[in-house]
Amino acid sequence: MRFSVFISVLRSLGPVVIGISLGFTLSLLSVSWTEEGCPLEGKEGEDVASGHDGLLKGARKPNSISTGNDVESEEDFEPRIVPYKQVQQSAPKKVFRAKYISTELGMRERLFAGVLTSKNTINTLGVAVNRTISHHLDTVVFFTGSRNRKVPHGMFVVSHGDERLIWNMFQTIRYVLDHYINEYDWFYFVQDDAYTEADRIRELVEHLSMDRELYMGSPEEFIGGEMEGKYCYGGFGYLLSRSLLLRLQIFLENCRNDILSSRPDEWLGRCIIDYTSNNCVSEYEGLEYHHYELGKNSDPSKEQNKKFKRALTVHPVSDPEQMYRLHRYFSEIELQKTYNEIAKLQVSRLPRVTNHL
Ligand SMILES: *[C@@H]1O[C@H](CO)[C@@H](O)[C@H](O)[C@H]1NC(C)=O
Repeated sequence: MRFSVFISVLRSLGPVVIGISLGFTLSLLSVSWTEEGCPLEGKEGEDVASGHDGLLKGARKPNSISTGNDVESEEDFEPRIVPYKQVQQSAPKKVFRAKYISTELGMRERLFAGVLTSKNTINTLGVAVNRTISHHLDTVVFFTGSRNRKVPHGMFVVSHGDERLIWNMFQTIRYVLDHYINEYDWFYFVQDDAYTEADRIRELVEHLSMDRELYMGSPEEFIGGEMEGKYCYGGFGYLLSRSLLLRLQIFLENCRNDILSSRPDEWLGRCIIDYTSNNCVSEYEGLEYHHYELGKNSDPSKEQNKKFKRALTVHPVSDPEQMYRLHRYFSEIELQKTYNEIAKLQVSRLPRVTNHL
């Protein structure tokens, strides 16, 4: 009984057992086969290598592939000390790296602001200008003749070391050309006795097309009147485009030597008009440079003039207090504008919401 069971199990497992043992046998056979092949491999490999050599002659130096001779040369091999020689690199070409990645990528900020101040006013009007425009603009730099021992906190001040006004104007333009010309599209200059509504100036340049030669501000006749052209009056500030400044660059020395003037804004205007044939304009592409001349001791909150309300710049400002009052006045107008815009947006959204309901 047991035996017959054993037989039947064996019979059913038979093919499996045979298959497994056949597999083992075959695998053992194949191992001995490849082992036998091993000693040959060296030679065969050489053949293959030289074959490759033949094939690759065009692409490789022949000695880069090992040949049978290598065995000999390996026996002869004696270690040698190869002295380390520093490879004399040809002086590396100096790569120009811009100060900011944005410059290197060719991206520029829109607006640079330069405030023309002085030793006597930097701590009063200068600081007031800083407090009313700095946090609205990317870059505000203060330019002065001689320097105070103490520079007001948080203000970037460049001093030219001399009180002569024309010299200072020349140095200021040169400084901007040397340091900022590749980083900005527009350059705004203003005296420290002017109030600037910074957001409006910024908005103006956002709408002006770049790469034009533009000299924009409040046009003024030259004193004497017989000289042609109009310059931008410094008290109301003015905008210079990057391309205009770049064109002026090579003539700047000439202007310093040739143009006699007692007023920096006149001197710059003369230089721009004579060498680039651009006059000061107050309007361009339908956009206007609004400015307002403040009466003596006038109270901003009582000014009724429409021109005053939309001014980009207001001049003359007599003291810091008046500057802050102007700032408050214009900030309220701008705030109201923002509220109105929000209200408009809310109204314009209403119908869409009800449609969906
Ligand atoms: C000038 O403005 C900057 C930026 O708004 C501010 O951090 C700094 O304190 C200001 N300096 C003075 C003296 O008001």
